[in-house]
Amino acid sequence: MSVFEASACAKLILCGEHAVVYGRPAIALPVASIRAIARVQFTGSGGISLHALDQERSWLVEPGTSDSFGELVLHTLTALAIHGPHHLRIEMTSQIPIASGMGSGAAVATAIVRALAAAAGRELSPEQVSTLVYESERRFHGTPSGIDNTVVAFERPIWFVRATAPDGTLMPTIEPVTISAPFTLLVGDTGQRSATRLPVGEVRRRWQASPKRYDERFDQVAALVHQARAALAHGDQGVLGAILSENHTLLKQIGVSNQALNRLVQAALDAGALGAKLSGAGWGGVMFALVTPATHAAVAEALLQAGAVRVLEAQVAESEA
Ligand code: PMV
Repeated sequence: MSVFEASACAKLILCGEHAVVYGRPAIALPVASIRAIARVQFTGSGGISLHALDQERSWLVEPGTSDSFGELVLHTLTALAIHGPHHLRIEMTSQIPIASGMGSGAAVATAIVRALAAAAGRELSPEQVSTLVYESERRFHGTPSGIDNTVVAFERPIWFVRATAPDGTLMPTIEPVTISAPFTLLVGDTGQRSATRLPVGEVRRRWQASPKRYDERFDQVAALVHQARAALAHGDQGVLGAILSENHTLLKQIGVSNQALNRLVQAALDAGALGAKLSGAGWGGVMFALVTPATHAAVAEALLQAGAVRVLEAQVAESEA
């Protein structure tokens, strides 16, 4: 029986996380070498079953399910006008650390949507894939900015400014980002899983309690994101590194870093990284350091010494806007 397979990349937020929820710009990068995979097979009987191979977990998708991937499958089948009764086996597997700021959920969801479209003999545009995944994230995770599903669906560096229609439909500004010189980020994983909605909820409470103070910090982040875009366009990695480290300082002030992240950031800087910051929601998950060929090995070693449970590499290629 035919198997329809599709994959989707991991992502890193280069700069601007959290402030992006409040309408400020952020830059996100795809990590093409680290991926999630979904496989869809028509089985002829047995309903729809999902198999998370890495967790050795399988379950049936019933109508009205409260499981986010199951619900995404039902919505996608409806959107693709694939009429039931449905008998599908859907397998998922991923190299992306879970709940760590690298977009694991969005990548698995994107791979599922692409594999279902392939099974239906349909090609969906990145916009269509992104919208289906965003709707699912919104139903399950509150107020995501939409940056994760967008960078994963387009698989290219993006400049992202959130905007939603009154009915909640996503209509962000998405622009390509010029990267004039390739560079390498080393990703240090604290090994602490972090549910995005917790730090996002805490930032919202703080912003509601002190709107002026937090809006000022978000504006400072926005200024850095503008500077980062210029540094990328000029291929100026020294400047980019300093901007990333400043962004980390602001994220600490916003209240989303923690000891493990700060330790990894400091270790990377001490070992000669051009800059380092947490990436994603914070309170655990990953950080990254901007390295050169001369500092690569020392920074990787320093991250492991400082407690990283793994160090991954993200190569960022040149790209034209
Ligand atoms: O899901 P994460 O950890 O990649 O974080 C997403 C980035 C935030 O700006 C914190 C939230 C959002 O919806 O943009």
